[in-house]
Amino acid sequence: MTVDVVIRDGMLVTPSGIVEGSLVIDEGKIVGIVRSGLPKADTVIDASGKMVLPGMIDMHVHLRDPGFPERENFESGTRAAAAGGVTTVVDMPNTVPATVTLEAFQEKKGIASRKSLVDFAFIGGAGEIPTESIIELADAGATGFKSFLIARFKELAASDYTLLRHMRTLADLGLPLLVHAENQSIVDSYMKEAEASGRTDPLAHCDYRPAIAEVEATMRCLAFARETGAHLHVCHMSTAGAVDALELAQAGGQYATGETSTNYLLFTREAMEERGPYAKVDPPLRTREDQLRLWEALNSGVIEVLASDHAPYTREEKEAGWANIFKAPSGGVVIETTLPLMLDAVNRDLISLERLVEVFSSNPAQVNGLYPRKGDLLLGSDADVVVADMDKPFKIRGEDLHTIQKITPYEGIKGTGAPYATLVRGSVVYMDGQVTGKPGNGAFQRPL
Ligand code: DOR
Ligand code: ZN
Ligand code: ZN
Repeated sequence: MTVDVVIRDGMLVTPSGIVEGSLVIDEGKIVGIVRSGLPKADTVIDASGKMVLPGMIDMHVHLRDPGFPERENFESGTRAAAAGGVTTVVDMPNTVPATVTLEAFQEKKGIASRKSLVDFAFIGGAGEIPTESIIELADAGATGFKSFLIARFKELAASDYTLLRHMRTLADLGLPLLVHAENQSIVDSYMKEAEASGRTDPLAHCDYRPAIAEVEATMRCLAFARETGAHLHVCHMSTAGAVDALELAQAGGQYATGETSTNYLLFTREAMEERGPYAKVDPPLRTREDQLRLWEALNSGVIEVLASDHAPYTREEKEAGWANIFKAPSGGVVIETTLPLMLDAVNRDLISLERLVEVFSSNPAQVNGLYPRKGDLLLGSDADVVVADMDKPFKIRGEDLHTIQKITPYEGIKGTGAPYATLVRGSVVYMDGQVTGKPGNGAFQRPL
């Protein structure tokens, strides 16, 4: 018998540990995990000296499609995903139109089906919309919903009452509510203070967006989730106080998950001075103490998810921030660099490779209801695989990226460890520097 693909002689990162062996892939599925006796295969990938991981599930990306083609779209964004070892993207609802109606959901599904190189799933928007819309979007296959506690995207902003209402519905449906947790009134008033101060330098963004805005909003959401029994997922956690609140809730028996990104793990507020608007994100970069707490929580299990929060803007939009940081939008081009930077973190002993696979593959698959079809190297799972070369040096340069906007907050940063090959359901979408996947290869994923 001839199978489609064999990935031979690697070190496989499986739920039962790291084992030497080969993966046998046929019809898009993992059909064998073997030490010897390999079948013939149409494609053989030599993984000797390399690590073989389940593909990354990036559960927090903004591919801007439909809405802002000059910033990103499903083709360019998933080209970058493939090059960065991401085999499933979970797209956020702040597109135009926002993903708050069945029509918008189906429109995005059509676009992604035509353009995506990797598999994709969608988060529905949970702003001031009727409960019936939540149910409709859930029926259509949303893996979760997102509410903003700040008014930045008006269709997605939810009042306290609405948060409670949506959480009750989602508790019944068994889907998570994802939140952007910052206190609107605190952020608003600080913005006015910032204006009055006359400050426009990059660090002013951090000075006028305090940690307490995130801590309070996180605690409020945790209280609502406890009251309603909903699964709360706190996006892009950046501050020690919010992590403390999450840990306390978990210690009290509440099921709540937290997420952070390389933005906060690798940068502190000082990065604003050198990188200016390119490092501007919401919530903002924080202190060294916050950063140490995030690493500790990511390793101990308080924070269970790593996601990129890929949120592209154009170079022009970002450049405007040098003269006045408040003129630049928040968000960075990061989907392609998250895995290499984290493999480098593994090499620097900041996290183990097994834990990285948990937080960037298995756990996001669980949170989005895609496990065990996705998120592990298991017999019968989709053959979404990354072959990683832990010894490959890299230097990040915007011009090398596959995104539309060739800019990066990490310009010039060097490290070691990079994807060598990426497979989505057994088809090679990236190999040795070349993206080989085709638009339309990606398939819609709904919760199991
Ligand atoms: O920095 C951010 N950018 N934070 C968000 O919450 C939204 C995101 C975006 O979509 O631009
Ligand atoms: Zn957010
Ligand atoms: Zn985001």
